[in-house]
Amino acid sequence: MNRKRADGDEASAGPPNTDVLRALVAGARQRITSAEDLAALSAVEAELTGRRSALATWKRELGGLDEAARRELGGELNEKRRVLEALIAERRAALVEVARAGVLEADRLDLTEVIPAPGPGHPHLVTRIREELEDIFLGMGYEIAEGPEVETDWYNFTALNMPPDHPARSGQDSFYVDLGDGESVLLRTHTSPVQIHLLERGVLPIYAVMPGLVYRRDTPDASHLPVFHQLEGLVVDRGITFGDLAGTIETFTKAIFGEDVRARLRPGYFPFTEPSAEFDISCTICGGVGCRTCSGVGWIELGGCGLVHPAVLESTGVDPEVWSGFAFGFGIDRVAIMRHGIEDMRAFIENDVRFLAGC
Ligand code: DAH
Repeated sequence: MNRKRADGDEASAGPPNTDVLRALVAGARQRITSAEDLAALSAVEAELTGRRSALATWKRELGGLDEAARRELGGELNEKRRVLEALIAERRAALVEVARAGVLEADRLDLTEVIPAPGPGHPHLVTRIREELEDIFLGMGYEIAEGPEVETDWYNFTALNMPPDHPARSGQDSFYVDLGDGESVLLRTHTSPVQIHLLERGVLPIYAVMPGLVYRRDTPDASHLPVFHQLEGLVVDRGITFGDLAGTIETFTKAIFGEDVRARLRPGYFPFTEPSAEFDISCTICGGVGCRTCSGVGWIELGGCGLVHPAVLESTGVDPEVWSGFAFGFGIDRVAIMRHGIEDMRAFIENDVRFLAGC
């Protein structure tokens, strides 16, 4: 009888004896415990207990033996199969555990990792300057007022001493929506119409600043935006003079830009003030010596101002013989670029998160 391949997957020729079966189990045990993963174990299992295994072949051959030998060998073959199956089940359980641990390790979520929370952020630079300006004027006893961004032609122009044919309208020409009853509306081109709303309240005296958005038919460039912020000022009281206006401008420009900055008034023209002036501050970049930012003149134009025109007071029923006042208006965005040395105003609307990021 050939019994050389008793532990293999091929059947030996003829029934095995006890030694052969013991050797089969010993060899099988070694192969089972050294199977490195579930796939390798399944392959070993097929070889040891599958249909083409030695055990299966011997079982098929039992029929050729006499009854006593058949019973004895049959019992032994069954017992060896149970031993092998137990060894395989044990190894499989261990390999399943290893595989599960591998998956867990790969999926591991490190809950101890510290990721810094994003900072709370801060208001946009323009908002900060607006709030700072509001604080300065609140400190001087002014109230903060607001008006609508959609205005009628009357508030935006006519009541401000700019009747329909007035040439000063062309400088702020805009898009109009005709309401059909002889009135039209537009996005306000300046904050000056809020002066009219305040005067209409009929509560005097007035000491107010009015911040807000204004809309112009302008192409954006380094120093212009079609949508920008203005701060309007209006004082109406008894005996207000040009000296009060000059002192107020001097005071708030120093408060916002620092004590070293000087303000000056130049004669100007606005339909709603008489006399009118434009006001400049000494250049914050060169200190007034002259540089590229101020085109070499040492001064930067900030806004317009003047004594409230009697026609404006009259258009709202305020008696110019009793009351007088001053008004001013300037761009908040322009103050922001000068305070922070920003070269191009368009940076404000380009969604650069550094304008909002937490510090
Ligand atoms: N509304 C003017 C503009 O947008 C600025 C201005 C000038 C406002 C003179 C005033 C003023 O109140 O008195 O160009």
